[in-house]
Formats: sequence, structure tokens, C-alpha cells
Amino acid sequence: MLRTHTCGQLRLEHLDQEVSLCGWVDVNRDHGGGIFIDLRDRYGVTQVVFGPESGEKLVEEAGRLRAEDVIRIWGKVARRPEGQENPKLPTGEIEVRSHKLEVLNRSERPPFTPRQRELPNEDLRLRYRYLDLRRREMQETLILRGRIVKIMRDYSAEHGFIDVETPILGRSTPEGARDYLVPSRVHHGHFYALPQSPQLYKQIMMIAGYDRYIQVARCFRDEDLRADRQPEFTQVDLEMSFCDAGDVMGVIDGLMARLMKELRGADLTLPLPRMTYDEAMERFGHDAPDLRFGMEIVDCTDLARQAEFRVFRATADGGGRVRGINAKGAGQRYSRRLLDELTEYVKHDFGARGLAWFRVEPDGKLWSPTSKNFSDELLAKFGQRLGAEPGDLLLFSADSFEVTCKVLNGLRKRLGAELKLYDPDALHFSWVVEFPMFEWDSEENRWAAKHHPFTAPKASDLPHLESEPGKVRAVAYDLVINGSEAGGGTIRIHDNAVQQQVFRLLGISEEAARERFGFLLDALKFGAPPHGGIALGIDRVVMLFGGLDNIRDCMAFPKTQKASDLMTEAPGLVDPKQLRELGIRIVREDEK
Ligand code: AMO
Ligand code: AMP
Repeated sequence: MLRTHTCGQLRLEHLDQEVSLCGWVDVNRDHGGGIFIDLRDRYGVTQVVFGPESGEKLVEEAGRLRAEDVIRIWGKVARRPEGQENPKLPTGEIEVRSHKLEVLNRSERPPFTPRQRELPNEDLRLRYRYLDLRRREMQETLILRGRIVKIMRDYSAEHGFIDVETPILGRSTPEGARDYLVPSRVHHGHFYALPQSPQLYKQIMMIAGYDRYIQVARCFRDEDLRADRQPEFTQVDLEMSFCDAGDVMGVIDGLMARLMKELRGADLTLPLPRMTYDEAMERFGHDAPDLRFGMEIVDCTDLARQAEFRVFRATADGGGRVRGINAKGAGQRYSRRLLDELTEYVKHDFGARGLAWFRVEPDGKLWSPTSKNFSDELLAKFGQRLGAEPGDLLLFSADSFEVTCKVLNGLRKRLGAELKLYDPDALHFSWVVEFPMFEWDSEENRWAAKHHPFTAPKASDLPHLESEPGKVRAVAYDLVINGSEAGGGTIRIHDNAVQQQVFRLLGISEEAARERFGFLLDALKFGAPPHGGIALGIDRVVMLFGGLDNIRDCMAFPKTQKASDLMTEAPGLVDPKQLRELGIRIVREDEK
């Protein structure tokens, strides 16, 4: 090695030792009496001093060093003069008095430095990702990511899971997003699809008898990107045979407990709490509820039916729902102007028609501009239902069940953050189970699979599969951390007849099913064990454990909202010769 120690290693115990260090110039200060360099590598920062004893020539040379130059220095470890110690640095009690310097690589003036406090805009960070990755926060996140993946691999190996790699060049897989396609040069006009997940391969591994499979798998989905979605992301993908939903959840419970123990030194109480999808929607308005705080949704449709207030009564009579939440003690915090802002927010973001609010007065009575449309008696009942106390703020949405869910979930999340109802460093884990098997796709006018078409219906719901598809529940489970879906899985169909029935319901004809998934349907005829599994989104797990709010900060080389890589400038144009070989001609946008 070109160094004897790293920049994070030296302490008082190394006093008077002759050492050499390599790293980047973090900052260069000229204090008259000498040049002080903060030398940085991924392990830390060490102060290197070029003083009178270093000689004039060396001091001059050190004075010319600039931020991000890469250097190698030789020197002796010394105690910092009294009062000059830096308790914030692990190396803060010592400095290295240097007598020799080698510049390994000079840096041009960087567009931003890793040490600057203010973050540059994200495009610049992504274009110069190597500079951005030198920042301490990015290094900490990537190190955390490495630890999380290692714990997951160790844990699954200890539990008998076999690590298997499945192809990246394959057939279209059924997760419901758009595919990324790769043209074949050998088979003209044919395309591979990059996997949206290894779903079908892992099921085949079960049919092949491998019993417990794991893969740290890359997945590719061409879909609209958000703060928690990337076109290319990583799953820890598991599959097990001869198991039920509880077995899969049990394995993940144990994994979460291990992560909490090793990363946070905390003991997680197992089993993690479980809630059905219906309950989650009723109580929290979302299938990934944030359970770090209360503010549960309360149904008041029966009371609304008795109200003179037109909006409430008409909604209740018309089959809609009137539901509310109680923001405890927030009555004074939200001025009329802020309440108008909340009303605009739910109208704009969730298509609400309005937002009804009440402040709870010191005498316990509910007041709002609309309260004159209610009898005192009825208002008292609303208050009672929501556990109202003086100072509270009650918010109601009157609409279809779906809209009230969106509105109240949105308000709950926003108020929970604004009122600081939870510790942002805490992690809360839970399961949501028994999702509906199908959802109605009103654009295409047909049923669509809520998870994927290989998900098993609940045995007790099988009889309604044809008659009431909307009521059929799936043996599906999502892992929820702090209101984010961190993972999802299901027990699979292992019976060919049920599989055909589900395809029929989804409007997938027998020919289409054969064409797309013939290999799986065939495999199901050759001895398929009952099986099921789950996939955890690693990027999201890192985001949650790292306390971050953006998935791009959890990956070394993420893509922008427009799915491009600003550093390599992918996607890019290709050589016309390559296109000719593939038999592809590009049609200009205006010729389409
Ligand atoms: P699902 O589609 O729910 O299930 O994905 C599993 C988990 O992967 C993460 N995830 C993503 N992370 C980042 N960017 C994305 N675009 C993205 N899409 C999904 C989420 C999600 O919970 N084959 C099934 C799993 C199974 O049934 O075993 C599947 O892929 O954290
Ligand atoms: P309006 O009758 O439209 O003037 O509305 C009177 C009050 O009821 C206003 O505060 C609206 O924001 C609120 N409001 C209107 N529609 C709804 C609704 N669907 N749910 C809850 N509040 C509503």
C-alpha cells in the first residue's frame, strides 16, 4: 500500500510514529506559520501540517495544493497544541507534521466540493456523481446499503435459502409496468424483455424442487418515476415451497428483527403486527398506513344522514361516505388561511369537492362557518364520535369511499409531519394482508390483477371467483415501514385449472396465456409444490433505515425523473451500423 494508515485511523496512541497517508485535499489553510491541510479519504479526515520544520520549499509546494488534489504525505504523528484539538473529529487530538509530499493527481477546479454545506442542484450532482459520492452522507448511505445486503444474504443463507441467479435477457414478466426491450441481432424482429422481477423464474425454481430460493435481483420497469421509484432497482427476492403466508411473513419478521438489532441495536417485538387491507383502508385510508401515530379515520356516515348540511346528507344518501379525522390540539395552529390552503390541497391533489372543518371551542362545542347547518345535538354527536376535546381540529371528507380514503390519508400524512406527531428516526414495521385479488380498470373496462396473475385467491373466496371477482381476496401480504411499501409477496397458484380460471377473468385468452406464459403452465403440469414468496425493495429499505426521503440518494448511479443517466448520458444514440445489424430503422417523432 502507498500508505501506512487511513485518514481516519490515527490517535494519541500513534504519537511520534512515522506514517504516510494518501487522500484528497479537503481544505487547505494558510495560517501564516504554516500550511494546514485537511486530508480526506472514506475513513475520515486527518490534519496535516507543513510548518517551518518542513522547509521553505515544501511549505510553498503545500501552499499550492487545491481542493480535491490527490496527494501522498510522509510525516510524524504529533499532539495538537493545547486549545487546537477538534473534539468533532476522531483524529482531532493529533496532527501529522509532514516532511515529504507527493502529488499523485491534480484536480481541476471542481464544480462543487464534497465538503461544502449547501448541496448543489441534483443535476450537477448526478453529472459529477464521482464528486457527489465523495460526500460523507453518500458514503454513509452506500456503506449502510452494503451492510443491509450482507445481513440479508447471511440471514437467508442461515435459513437454508439458495442463492440463484436468473437471466436478465428473458421473456416479458407480468408485474404490470412497461417492459424495457432488447432487440435480438440473431433473431430478426425478436426482442428480449428485461425482467420486471424474477417472478416466473423463481416459481420455476420451486417446481424444480429447490425449496428455498433467494436472489439480490435487478429489476427493470419503464414506469412514471417518483421519489420512491427508479426504472432500475434491486429486490431481495425470496421464494419458498410447502409454506403458507404466515411462514413467509415469519421469515421476513426475523430478518427485520436482525436488521434492527445489527443496525440500530434495538429489539423488535415479533410477530410484527398484521392488519387486513379492508381494515387499513377503513382506519387509515391507505394500503400502506403510517402507524407511527394515531389520528385514525372515523366513519360518520350515519350521523351525516341526519344533518341539514346539504353536502353531508346528499353524500350519505347517495351511497357515499362521510369520514373524519381529529388533529388533536391543532385548532389554533391552523388559521383560516391555512385551512383554505388544506382545502385547495385536497381539491387539487385528490379531486375532493371540499373540506369541512370544525374547531373545538373551550366549552367543547364544535364551531365552523358551516356549523349553523347542524343542530347542537348532532354536532355533539360528531364530536363524541371523534373523541373531540377543547382545542382539537376536526376535518371531514364527504365523497365516494375511494376519494375519502385519498383525502384523509393525504391530510393525515401532511398533518402528522406538520404537527411532528412522530420521531423521524423511529422505524415502525407492520404487515397488510388479504388484498383484493382484482381491481377494476375503468379505462380498459376489465378486471386487472392487483398483484400479478399468479397470486392465489383465498381458499374460502374461491367459490365467488366467477360471480363476484371484486370480493375475492388474495393470499397477499405487503411489508409496510413508516407508511411505505417496503416489500410485497403472495402465495402462488400451483393448480393449473385455477390458473386458467384467473387468466380467463383477467381477459387473457388461452392462446395469449400460452403465448406469454406457456412454459409456466406446462411446468405447473409436472409436479408443482404449493409455494409462495416475497420481494423487498432494497433501495426503499435503505432509504427508510437511512432516514432519507429520496431513493436516488440510496443508489450509486441513479437515473433522473426522465430515466436518464446524466453522467454517462445514457440512453444515447447508437451507430447506424448497429441498427442495420438489428434490422431497426428509427422513425422520427414527427413521422410517427
Ligand atoms: P412488487 O412489484 O410489489 O412485487 O415489488 C416488490 C418491491 O419492490 C420495490 N419496488 C420498487 N423499488 C424501486 N423502484 C421501483 N420502480 C419499484 N417497484 C417495486 C417495492 C416493492 O414492495 N414479483 C413480486 C414479488 C413477489 O410476489 O414475490 C414483485 O415484484 O419495495
Ligand atoms: P359549499 O356548500 O360548497 O359552499 O361548501 C360548504 C363547506 O363544505 C366548505 O367548507 C366546503 O369546503 C365544504 N365541502 C364541500 N364539499 C365537501 C365535501 N365533499 N366533503 C367535505 N366538505 C365539503
